[in-house]
This record gives sequence, C-alpha cells and structure tokens, in this order.
Amino acid sequence: MISFGVLGAGRIGKVHARTIAGSKQARVAYLADANAQAAAELAAEVGAKVASVEDIIKAKDVDAILIATPTPTHADLIEAGSEAGKAVLCEKPVSMSVERIKACLKVVEQNGTNLMIGFNRRFDPNFASIEQRIRKGDVGDVELVTVISRDPAPPPVDYVKSSGGLYRDMMIHDFDMARFLVGEEFVTVQALGAALVDPAIGKAGDVDTAAVQMQTASGKIAVITNSRRATYGYDQRVEVHGSKGMLSARNIQNTTVELANEKGIMGDPVLHFFTERYVEAYANEVKAFIDGLAKGVSARPNGFDGLQAQKLADAATTSWQTGKPVKLA
Ligand SMILES: NC(=O)c1ccc[n+]([C@@H]2O[C@H](COP(=O)([O-])OP(=O)(O)OC[C@H]3O[C@@H](n4cnc5c(N)ncnc54)[C@H](O)[C@@H]3O)[C@@H](O)[C@H]2O)c1
Repeated sequence: MISFGVLGAGRIGKVHARTIAGSKQARVAYLADANAQAAAELAAEVGAKVASVEDIIKAKDVDAILIATPTPTHADLIEAGSEAGKAVLCEKPVSMSVERIKACLKVVEQNGTNLMIGFNRRFDPNFASIEQRIRKGDVGDVELVTVISRDPAPPPVDYVKSSGGLYRDMMIHDFDMARFLVGEEFVTVQALGAALVDPAIGKAGDVDTAAVQMQTASGKIAVITNSRRATYGYDQRVEVHGSKGMLSARNIQNTTVELANEKGIMGDPVLHFFTERYVEAYANEVKAFIDGLAKGVSARPNGFDGLQAQKLADAATTSWQTGKPVKLA
C-alpha cells in the first residue's frame, strides 16, 4: 500500500485525493491545507489525518507527496519532498520561472526522485489513443499537428493579473500536448495574440485570443489556437496529419441526443469545463503514477516535460510581445 501525503485541498487537490482514496494500491495518509476547514473536510472524506506540510514531508510513513497548492509553492515543495526521499506528483506548472525550474530539477536529479508533473491531458483516453496510434504508425510520418483549446468563459481580471499570461497559464497544456504528439522538440515559436473577448484583459497586459505556430528541427509543424471564450462549452480538439492519413479527436457532448427538424440537426453543448471534461484524465493520471510507483517505473510527464513546456510558453510570450519568431536551442 502506497501512502500519500496530499498538500492542498482546493479544486484539484480534492479530485486527486478522491482518486487516491479509491485506489486499491494507495491511501491518503495525511492531508494539509492552509485553510484548516478545507483540510478537515477533505481529510474526513478520504480517511486521512490532518497534519502540517512540514510534518507530512518528514513523515516516515509517507511514500509519495501530491502537491496541489498554488503555483508559487510548487518548486520549494518538490525540493523538500525530493530531499526527504519521497516520490512527488506535482500539479503544473513547476514554476513560472525557467531558471527556478532548472534549479529545482537539479535537486530532483541529485536525489533520483520519481517526479510526475500534472499534464493531465496526456491521460485523456482520446488524446492518449491518438498518441499510441501515431507511435503504431497509423498516420505515417507526422507532418502537422493542430491543437484547439477554448475555455467557456474568461476568468476574473484579478486572476489574469497574477496568472503569468495566457501563454503560461492556459496554453501551457497545449504546448505539452504538441510535444507529446509530435515527439520532437520545437525550435521555432511564433505567436499572435489579442484581447478580443474582454478589453479589461488587454488593459491588464494579457491576451484572451491567441494563435501559436511552432516548428521542429526536422520541419514538423504544430499550430495551437486558444480563446478564453466559447459559447458552446469547453472546446478541446486535436488533429494530427501525417504522410498516411489523419487522426482527430472531437469534443465530448453532455449527451449524444440530437434533435433533427426542418432547421437542421442540433446536439447538446460540449462538456462545460475541465472538471467535467477531464474527469477520466485526472483519475488516469494519478493511477498511472501509483502503478509506476508499484512497478518502480519512472513517471512521465516528468520535470523535463515541465521545463520544456515552460520554455515554449516563455518563447510564445516573447514572440507576441516583440512580433518576431523566437528560436530555441
Ligand atoms: N492540471 C490541471 O488541469 C489543473 C487544474 C486546476 C489547477 N491546477 C493547478 O493546481 C494548483 C492548485 O490549483 P486549484 O485550482 O486547486 O487552487 P485552489 O485555490 O482551489 O486550491 C489551492 C489550495 O491550497 C491551499 N494552500 C494555499 N497555500 C498553501 C500552502 N502554503 N500550504 C498548504 N496549502 C495551501 C489553499 O488554502 C487552497 O485550499 C495550481 O498550481 C494550478 O495551476 C491544475
């Protein structure tokens, strides 16, 4: 039985703690949150004891730490968990600073820590199937990858101000998806962006509508488009075009019911947001981490994947700001 210490009982901490508690191979031994009530409620639900972050990291009867606290705490907590000899599953991103991620990954490497970063979309059954079929050769050589990602509605402007900007906050998942599907590193990044949804987002120095195109050294191209608004729900689609064909994953609707009449054929809106759309992905992610620990297999996506996605997010931000393509080593 793998014993987890869960740090953070907020939106995503709850989702992960429930998955661990439902696993036959793992349990939530301890849980910490800066908000005592949030900690107590979730601990009672998943059968854990409430403890401080420091005590959980030191605890001899904890094998793995799950970090679901706010982003500025991640790198310090990964390092603390790593120094204490624990395996770590940390929510994305490791840090908003590429330099801080590099320093953190040195500690992880020195201690040989099994670290997974929460790029949950790799575990979505549809996107995971696309990646497996690419590797099987179903579309031959990958030439063009398109990733479409649109939120149902923009976040509050206060959130935007501390988010690091759309490329780091929202598109970070799509950078990871593009790397996952293409299977090569991108060396050129070119971004466009605008505030077309909410002028207040523009005033805060960010964009709510963006397109990024990227190219690998061998010439493969990925195109990502993001919007902070989609009237029909959380729009999450992927298309991979290759020498032998095309793989694509459509949106998932609330039901498969359609109304057909003289105006046409009308279906349901797509699943509303990430908590609905990625239920299976979040569960599969935590299960994959637990399975890996049980089998002694290194986790993926790992710290390097976190670093590469952050580099692409930085490059896209710079490209949008300067209006020029950015080359990566
Ligand atoms: N992979 C995904 O799809 C996904 C989705 C949502 C959030 N996230 C990431 O997860 C992290 C948490 O996001 P959230 O939406 O759950 O936030 P949240 O605000 O709902 O939850 C964070 C929790 O951490 C607690 N907390 C804050 N500082 C703490 C500290 N120093 N020690 C212990 N507890 C502390 C807060 O009281 C709160 O309960 C963020 O880094 C975010 O980027 C990832």
